[in-house]
Amino acid sequence: MQKISIIGAGMTGATTALWLAERELADLVLVDVVEGMPQGKGLDMLETMPIIGRDVEIVGSNDYAATGDSDIIIITAGLPRKPGMSRDDLLSANADVVGKAATETLKYSPDAIYVVLTNPLDTMAYLTLKLNKLPRERVIGQAGVLDSARMRAFVAHEAGVSVENIQCYVLGGHGDEMVPLTRHSNVAGIALRDYLPADKLEAIVNRTRKGGGEIVNLLKSGSAYYAPSAAVAQMSEAILKDKHLILPCSAYMQGEYGLNDIFFGVPVMLGRGGMEKIIEYELDADEKVAFAKSAAAVKETHEALKKLVKI
Ligand SMILES: NC(=O)c1ccc[n+]([C@@H]2O[C@H](COP(=O)([O-])OP(=O)(O)OC[C@H]3O[C@@H](n4cnc5c(N)ncnc54)[C@H](O)[C@@H]3O)[C@@H](O)[C@H]2O)c1
Repeated sequence: MQKISIIGAGMTGATTALWLAERELADLVLVDVVEGMPQGKGLDMLETMPIIGRDVEIVGSNDYAATGDSDIIIITAGLPRKPGMSRDDLLSANADVVGKAATETLKYSPDAIYVVLTNPLDTMAYLTLKLNKLPRERVIGQAGVLDSARMRAFVAHEAGVSVENIQCYVLGGHGDEMVPLTRHSNVAGIALRDYLPADKLEAIVNRTRKGGGEIVNLLKSGSAYYAPSAAVAQMSEAILKDKHLILPCSAYMQGEYGLNDIFFGVPVMLGRGGMEKIIEYELDADEKVAFAKSAAAVKETHEALKKLVKI
């Protein structure tokens, strides 16, 4: 059986474990700093397996040694947003947590592929890549699957069409400047721009950009975790099953889209090698402007990180 370790057994980490167990993809390890909590959640999930008929080992631990020989390390440890906070406000609090999670796990799983969720997402993925000095194929950030799913849900609702017929591509940084691509997104092959009236589409684009904040404001404490964890489960399955599935994810740019040395949301191909390929869309003038604005925001957070951590 393959093995996935999840660092941070909070709302997102624990729900990720449940989605993964349901897929019977890999044995699972939950690690958290809170004593007893990952052990308790792990045991509760292990006792769920006979009911749902899945043969998966699940353990919780406070010790990184338990993550040894993982195929995938998922990092979702750290603080979530509170109402009124941007993802970037989490930078200094989460840089320490993610830095430690990245370096400690690599000692025990030198060949693992990293999937990062902790916010600010693009910059935490950047930190993981730089601290661990990994090839870019082995560090992927989760953002685009979630942001695109939010847009797909809103479009499905508005159009009265099955979510299965709706493809959306939300690219760029995982912040307020993210780029929902209405020209590439479609309903059963018909471009969204042609399917929905402009005002409805604009409202969907705006709601998508603020989708995470909408949930933070409703929950009052904590942020979304059902859709984010489903997203990381889909990514993990694509990797372990070597599916060559193209999904929007945050990847390290080396010249693609004219960008260098930043993590940025783009369509990537996921397979057993991790981030195997970046797909480059032809962008029109407006899309190029939106990409540049989003990239500038991500770059700014990367620069702020470099003032905090030597990388
Ligand atoms: N990229 C995305 O789309 C996305 C989606 C959801 C959440 N997130 C981010 O993921 C993070 C976690 O969110 P959550 O809702 O699960 O929060 P949460 O508070 O429920 O869980 C976070 C967990 O991290 C643990 N933790 C803290 N420091 C740790 C350390 N040094 N080592 C191990 N564990 C540690 C905490 O004890 C807690 O259990 C946040 O930064 C959030 O913004 C990102």
